[in-house]
Parts: sequence; structure tokens; C-alpha cells
Amino acid sequence: MRIENRVALISGGASGLGAACAAMIAEDGGYVAIADLDQARGAALAAQLSNDSLFVCTDVARADSAEAAVAAVLARFGRIDIAINCAGVCPGQRVIGKDGSPMSLDAFARVIQINLIGTFNMTRLAAAAMAKNEPMGDSAERGVIVNTASVAAYEGQIGQTAYAASKAGIAGLTLPLARDLARHGIRAMAVAPGIFDTPLLAGLPEDVRASLAAGVPFPQALGQPSQFAALVRHIVENSYLNGEVIRLDAALRMAPK
Ligand SMILES: NC(=O)c1ccc[n+]([C@@H]2O[C@H](COP(=O)([O-])OP(=O)(O)OC[C@H]3O[C@@H](n4cnc5c(N)ncnc54)[C@H](O)[C@@H]3O)[C@@H](O)[C@H]2O)c1
Repeated sequence: MRIENRVALISGGASGLGAACAAMIAEDGGYVAIADLDQARGAALAAQLSNDSLFVCTDVARADSAEAAVAAVLARFGRIDIAINCAGVCPGQRVIGKDGSPMSLDAFARVIQINLIGTFNMTRLAAAAMAKNEPMGDSAERGVIVNTASVAAYEGQIGQTAYAASKAGIAGLTLPLARDLARHGIRAMAVAPGIFDTPLLAGLPEDVRASLAAGVPFPQALGQPSQFAALVRHIVENSYLNGEVIRLDAALRMAPK
């Protein structure tokens, strides 16, 4: 699908990988709708991007909030062609704490609720809106969905049971999602990033960031959000990509810690 004049709904678009996708879509002449909890950053980014961008304060983990976001996008633009789901959190906690107590069930459930259920929540609503589009282009597609997994889906580290499970869930739903949506002419893909230089990592001390980068085979550096956005652009434009999770990690395989 060509991005020009298409409408992209980007969850988690106020920061990091999602913000880079918002910039890429606007640069390519598409319309951007950012759905994010972060009112200040989201509104500022939407105002800065060209092409009439929209920000909707959204909690992807809640059905009513996501429904309101999709309704607001349809009210403004009349359609959704591209859904990019980047909203997520990455807390770390061991299953048994230093004092011997088990990790709380609420802590595990919160990560699943935001990362996995939130991704599915945005996906189901965007897909239903896309199904109403007229088929576009040579491949007669109605829409494309790109979700964000993680290499932790395959090599979760110590303290990442919840995060890894949430991302493995996103990886696992990719193929059945593509199969479900095939009859509607909608593609579904996921990207599994390695370690990217986003606000998620900005809080880490410089030596920790350097040691993270040193563990990456080649190029020995943190990934840039623009490199993630470049892959998302290719996924949107290449209509033969469907039902797959693509690692974007410079050959990184995460160690236990
Ligand atoms: N940065 C990395 O190294 C890396 C690696 C692998 C996967 N990822 C994944 O990429 C995605 C984006 O990460 P990032 O590094 O850009 O992080 P980030 O913290 O910069 O951006 C995440 C965004 O999600 C939003 N968000 C969080 N909870 C939300 C909710 N309930 N509803 C709506 N918005 C919510 C935040 O407000 C924020 O704007 C996440 O799913 C993350 O797990 C990141």
C-alpha cells in the first residue's frame, strides 16, 4: 500500500518507536492519528507533524478508551488504512523477590493487559474499520496492521516473565490474525525489535547503555527508531508480507541478563 493520503492510527505514537512511525507516515504524505496515554507528548507531536495530525488520549488496555479513539479517528478522517501498535511497558521483576515473596499476580496481569490485550484491542477495532474500506491497489488490500513484539518473545531475560509472555503472545497471534483477516483483504505483521534507543532506555546510566550496545554483534550499536520506522514503511508498502514476525536486531540474541 502506498502511504500517501492513507490514514495511519499509531498506538504509543507519542514516544520512541511509535513517534518515529508517526514522523515517517507524515513525511510520506499520510495522515497520522496518535493514540497514547501521554497527553503532553502526544499533543505536542501531533501539532508538530504536518498533514492535519490528530492526537487522542487513549488507554489501549481499556475497551471503551480504544473504542473512543477509533471513533475519533473515523470522525476526523473517515477511515483507517494502517494500524501500527507500539504502546507498551517494560517493567522487570523476578518471580521470587529478594525477601522470598512471590511476584504479585497484579504485576504480571498489568503487563499482559497493556502489551498483549492492548495490542489486540487496537487491532480488532482498527481491523473492523479497515474492513469497510474499498479494496486498494494491485493487491486489492483494505488495510495493514503492524504490531510490535520484541526479541524477548524468544529470549526473555531474568525478570522478564511478564514482558516476554506478553510479546510472545503478540508474536503468536500474528499468523492467525493474518488468516482471520485475509478474507477482508487486511494484512497483519509484527516486528520484533532488539535494543532500540528510545525514552524506554534513556533513563539508564550511560555505562549500562554502552554495555547493551556492546552486546550487539553488528552494527555494534543501539537501534535507531528511524530504522524501526523504515521497516514498518517497507511492510506497509510490500503487500506480499503477511502473517510473519520480523526480527530487527543486528543479530542480537539476548543473554539471561
Ligand atoms: N526500545 C526497545 O529497545 C524495544 C525493544 C523491543 C520492543 N520494544 C517495544 O516497542 C514498543 C515501543 O517502545 P518504545 O521503546 O518506543 O517505548 P516508549 O516508552 O518510548 O513508548 C511507549 C509509548 O507507549 C505509551 N503507552 C504505555 N502504556 C500505554 C497505554 N496503556 N495506552 C496507550 N499508550 C500507552 C507510552 O505513553 C509511550 O508513549 C513497546 O511495545 C516496547 O515493548 C521496544
